[in-house]
Amino acid sequence: MEVAPGPEALGHRVAALVLEALRSVATGRPAKPLGLATGRTMEPVYGALVEQLGGLPSRKRQELLAGWTSFNLDEYVGLGPGDPESFAASMERAVGAPLGLAPGQLRLPDGLAPHPEREARRYGQAITAAGGLGLQLLGLGTNGHVGFNEPPCPPEAPTRCLELDPATRHQNASLFAAGLAAVPQRAITVGLAEILAAETVVLVVSGEAKAEILRRSLEEPPQPQLPASWLQGHQYLKVLVDEAAASRLGWVRVSEGKPDGWVTTS
Ligand code: GLP
Repeated sequence: MEVAPGPEALGHRVAALVLEALRSVATGRPAKPLGLATGRTMEPVYGALVEQLGGLPSRKRQELLAGWTSFNLDEYVGLGPGDPESFAASMERAVGAPLGLAPGQLRLPDGLAPHPEREARRYGQAITAAGGLGLQLLGLGTNGHVGFNEPPCPPEAPTRCLELDPATRHQNASLFAAGLAAVPQRAITVGLAEILAAETVVLVVSGEAKAEILRRSLEEPPQPQLPASWLQGHQYLKVLVDEAAASRLGWVRVSEGKPDGWVTTS
């Protein structure tokens, strides 16, 4: 686990991990697609990624971007790339447009598909056909969800279409110009099954509001009421948080951090 002094430093660190994953694709090592997340936590991550890629010589940058293939975690049912509040539009603004990615490189479930259940199955099959996910980025919901795997959720839940928890709709209401009423009732999410099968899982959490749910997700026994708690069983789980999010973890001593403000625990 790593604790960053704040959300910006956290974003830079997570972006560096994504860049490392892109480098391993470019060097020809067998590499799987990236699993990407949306949400406020990821905004500094994508900002830093665009900055870090922008600092590379253009040939190197093009080489890394040519190997980019990603699957996003989720999308609201009823929203498409033309809706500014869709995850497709958010990803296009954050990475697609600034990095000049082709539409096929940045994949998301189609929120406008006429049969969302069928679309969810197709999306899950596309992940399987690509050989599964490599580096999976995850944010954390205030109710313990990852992606849109709402509680209760067993670890074998597949990619599917589901009803959003009222807590999630409240959490995300501020991202909709028209507020809570505009937040869709349903979404398509990559399942915990596919998330847990990823090679590496990177859980990224910032802010005081997530401190208690982060503590419970890491310290309570894995259980359906805390979908993120199933991550405890993943062989390569990296937990990257800021000091505010780590504030309820008694075993993290931020004051004993390295001179640059970072703390690394096992
Ligand atoms: C959202 C998304 C997740 C996201 C999480 C945290 O509802 N479905 O993929 O990671 O909840 O969001 P935020 O970072 O805005 O707090």
